[in-house]
Amino acid sequence: MFVVVNGFRMHYQVYGPAKSRPLLFVHGFPLSGAVWSPLVEILKDEFRLIIPDLRGFGESELIESVQPGVIPAVSLEQYTDDLFVLLEEIGEDRPSVIIGLSMGGYIAFDFYRRYTSDVFAMVLADTRAAADPPERRIERYKTAQAVLTQGSAVVADAMVNKLFGPAAPRDLREQWHANIRSIRPESLAAALLAMAARPDSTELLERILCPTLVVVGEHDSITPVEEAKRMQRAILAAELAVIPYAGHMTPVEQPQLFAAALQGFLRAVG
Ligand code: MLT
Repeated sequence: MFVVVNGFRMHYQVYGPAKSRPLLFVHGFPLSGAVWSPLVEILKDEFRLIIPDLRGFGESELIESVQPGVIPAVSLEQYTDDLFVLLEEIGEDRPSVIIGLSMGGYIAFDFYRRYTSDVFAMVLADTRAAADPPERRIERYKTAQAVLTQGSAVVADAMVNKLFGPAAPRDLREQWHANIRSIRPESLAAALLAMAARPDSTELLERILCPTLVVVGEHDSITPVEEAKRMQRAILAAELAVIPYAGHMTPVEQPQLFAAALQGFLRAVG
């Protein structure tokens, strides 16, 4: 389904009983709502699932009309505001559970910071609270430039093996390599700059008062287990689920285990 949000066509999917609490699934970089697909069959009879593609990813437009080679200014706050408006536009603007994977976690922090009363609970999967250190920012600017001149394969090649743990089958890596290659270079570049400019959320952690589940793949090399433990300790009411045999792509690599952790948490928080 599509809806016009903040001037661009946003793609989203909705499943599950209309009256139940919305679960808003926010994907990471350089991914799409498809990372949550393996969970849909497991969760859709019990929960209301809202699965958007962030602007520029999956089937969502980046802006109404993209000029090749030009990076539109997109901030992390813009992705958040798109989601906020999406929920309003589709009549799902009740306090929801925000489930963010990696960059989706950065967006979840921003959502909580600015729309606190709209967040019933949070799931922070394979993410981190800290902002980028200067050298990482520079690396992101360089990658953004490279992707515009050489194409999206630059990001696909650099990231695909880092995204998965050692147990992930080759066809899964190949499938995601192809998915990443199909994203417009301008969308990748815009997201890289947005992540580089994101604020530090470390101070926010101790102000998070909603029930929170921190999830991490045991072999996550991008946002390692230690990072998740630090977040869990800093948040007042947080639980930790370490997903065995998974890397950074926990819902794709171990959907049954990810869904079981989510179900346990959601049933307990009501
Ligand atoms: C993600 O999975 O969203 C990214 O790897 C996060 C990042 O690059 O910081």
